[in-house]
Amino acid sequence: MWILAFIFFQSILNVFSEDLHSSLYFVNASLQEVVFASTTGTSVPCPAGGAPPASLRWYLATGEEIYDVPGIRHVHPNGTLQIFNFLPSSFSKLIHDNTYYCTAENPSGKIRSQDVHIKAVSREPYTVRVADQKAMRGSVAVFKCIIPASVEAYVTVVSWEKDTVSLSSAV
Ligand SMILES: *[C@@H]1O[C@H](CO)[C@@H](O)[C@H](O)[C@H]1NC(C)=O
Ligand SMILES: *[C@@H]1O[C@H](CO)[C@@H](O)[C@H](O)[C@H]1NC(C)=O
Repeated sequence: MWILAFIFFQSILNVFSEDLHSSLYFVNASLQEVVFASTTGTSVPCPAGGAPPASLRWYLATGEEIYDVPGIRHVHPNGTLQIFNFLPSSFSKLIHDNTYYCTAENPSGKIRSQDVHIKAVSREPYTVRVADQKAMRGSVAVFKCIIPASVEAYVTVVSWEKDTVSLSSAV
């Protein structure tokens, strides 16, 4: 009887201590997009973790567990997903512009991070230009700053100049 009672309390204690000392948590809920330069590559820590240390795995948003591609993509034992720098000619949408998530699993259970869009941009030289416009004297002419499509999303027009004199914005 005493032995049974002892085992019973022991198991309550075990469950109790597991609840107290085992947890899973999200690390960085604001990590939803990582934009990196193809020349530098990127390292993304798993945005989920746990105590005792959780086993961390990365997946594509489609649910496929990702595999190491030597010299291209690697998941470190600490759960950091590394995407190596690459030449623009080696761009692979599946690896360099895709949505990933990470899971953390330990005795408490398992959690899934939010989706993280990881996107490479190539830092290539670019030029912007303005096309000539014709307008009747006294009417309005509209000039558009023409930015190459490959960099358009990352380029902001900061000023217009006429004969090297900056024009102030009337917006
Ligand atoms: C969380 O993610 C954001 C967006 O990537 C980053 O700027 C910030 O440094 C991260 N914070 C921590 C604590 O890792
Ligand atoms: C994980 O390990 C890699 C390689 O050792 C290291 O570069 C990275 O900083 C580590 N990340 C964290 C979050 O500890």
